[in-house]
Amino acid sequence: MSAALDLVVAAVDDTVPGVRSVRLVRPDGGALPGFTPGSHVVVTCGPPGAPGNAYSLTGDSVAPRAYTISVLRLDAGRGGSRWVHALTTGDRVEVTPPRSAFPPVLAARRHLLVAGGIGVTPILSHLRSAVRWGRDVEVLYAHRPGAAAHLDDLRDLAGDALTCLTDRTTLGDHLQRRLADQPVGTHLYTCGPAGFMDTVTLAARRLGWPDERIHVEHFGVDDLDPGEPFEAVLRASGRTVPVPSGTSLLDALEGAGLSVPNLCRQGVCGECRVPVAAGTPLHRDLVLTDAEKAAADTLLCCVSRAADDRLELDL
Ligand code: FES
Repeated sequence: MSAALDLVVAAVDDTVPGVRSVRLVRPDGGALPGFTPGSHVVVTCGPPGAPGNAYSLTGDSVAPRAYTISVLRLDAGRGGSRWVHALTTGDRVEVTPPRSAFPPVLAARRHLLVAGGIGVTPILSHLRSAVRWGRDVEVLYAHRPGAAAHLDDLRDLAGDALTCLTDRTTLGDHLQRRLADQPVGTHLYTCGPAGFMDTVTLAARRLGWPDERIHVEHFGVDDLDPGEPFEAVLRASGRTVPVPSGTSLLDALEGAGLSVPNLCRQGVCGECRVPVAAGTPLHRDLVLTDAEKAAADTLLCCVSRAADDRLELDL
């Protein structure tokens, strides 16, 4: 993975209650790597040793001079959002290069973007790209009254192609109608709370949308089950490291004295990838492609485990 970027907070915006938007730039003001629409970065800005958190980039993906993120404050979370809400102009943060698991399908005939709450962030990135390249696009944005992040941006970009929905009944009815009334070749992209995305994808599937035209963006894998216990065998030393239920492979390896690079510990940054020599990984990350998962020769050890009782690692 490319080296993390050391960026400076250039501005913060707290206009929408509970949501902080942060603009990050290079200390020298130079250009930042471009990115695929829908990309996220992992931002590390908490106390020493704190894990990073993944946030979608909301700005223009072409030749950016700044990265912008918008973060909903969650007081019950792991702390990442509170740390972002404590940032002030001039603070330094570590940011991974952008990574995408939610890119637009360029061959799509039309793009239907469906956002729920703060899930609007990658949807905004998709919308910017669709408008820039003249693609046919429609946006549905479900939000609480008075709590819509980036509403002005969406209005400016989408115009009449934007529909805002602020109550469940209207949302359900409108979603049903719009999903049923799209030309063949339309791709659906959705991001928001897990229950919201389940509602959107279930409605689409019931209307006959094929899975390859439904795209979902998750922000992390907080709710994983504790998993079955297994043994990790380290090929270089022949050591066996037990991995109990409820303990991640990463924690077990660190407990055995190994140093494994990591950032997010949530299966979203890709930093903790380790090579698999034998055995079948049980992949639970949001980074590896389907082909990489099928190859079974690597896994992200912060969230993924063994499908059987033993996994041999090239460590
Ligand atoms: S530490 Fe980020 S994917 Fe494992």
